[in-house]
Amino acid sequence: MPKAFIFDLDGVITDTAELHYQAWKRLADSLGITIDREFNEELKGVGRMESLEKILALDSNQSDLSLERKEALATEKNDHYVDLLGTISEDDILPGITDLLATIRQQGIKVGLGSASKNATHVLKELKLIDQFDYIVDAAQVSKGKPDPETFTNAADYFGVDYVECIGIEDAPSGVTAVNSAGMFSVGVGTAEALSHADYRVDDTTELDFDEIIQAYQSFGV
Ligand code: BG6
Ligand code: MG
Repeated sequence: MPKAFIFDLDGVITDTAELHYQAWKRLADSLGITIDREFNEELKGVGRMESLEKILALDSNQSDLSLERKEALATEKNDHYVDLLGTISEDDILPGITDLLATIRQQGIKVGLGSASKNATHVLKELKLIDQFDYIVDAAQVSKGKPDPETFTNAADYFGVDYVECIGIEDAPSGVTAVNSAGMFSVGVGTAEALSHADYRVDDTTELDFDEIIQAYQSFGV
C-alpha cells in the first residue's frame, strides 16, 4: 500500500481554471491584450508571475515593464480571482473526489495537497475540504514550482515517507512531470495527448477509483 496521496488542487479537486481565466482576461483586456480559452490551457499549473509573463509576451509593447509594475498587475489579477472565489462552494468539488478522499483516509493513508496556488488554503476552506488534508504545500512554501519535484517532495518529507510510497494526482503536464521527477507514482487526469507521461491516466475525476489506482500502483512494481 502507498503511504501518502498528494493531490494537485486546480483541475483535480475543483475546476478553478475558468475563474483564473476570467481574472486573467479582465486584466489582459485592461492592457489591450486579447486572450482566449485555448490560450488559457497554457496557463494550467503555471505560477502567477510566469502566467503574467506569458500574457505580456503576447504584446511586444509590454515586454519591458518594471518588476514593480508586473507585481502590481499580478496583484490586480489576484484581486479579481479572489473576488470570483467568493462564488465557489462544496458544489464545485469535482465528481468522485469527496469519496476518493474518504476512502484514502479510511485506509489510514496520509493525504497531502501540492498546489502551485497561493490561494490553495482559501480554496479548500471555500470547498469545506480543509479537514480532509493532513498537510498543504502551496506556492509560498517552495523555492521552485512545478515541473520541479519540490512541491511533492516537500509533502513526502513532512510525512516522513519514501517518495516511491507516494502517489501524486495531477491534471497538468508540468505537474505530472513534477510527480515523475520526485520518483513518485503519477496519476494523470486528462487526455492521453497531454498526459502520455503519466504512469496511470484517467479521462476525468469520475474515473478515479481507489482500488484501480492501487492496482496500477502495485503492478508498476513498487
Ligand atoms: C495553479 C493554477 O494551480 O496555480 C494556475 O493551475 C495558477 O492557473 C497557479 O496560475 C497560481 O495560482 P495563484 O492562486 O497563486 O495565482
Ligand atoms: Mg492543476
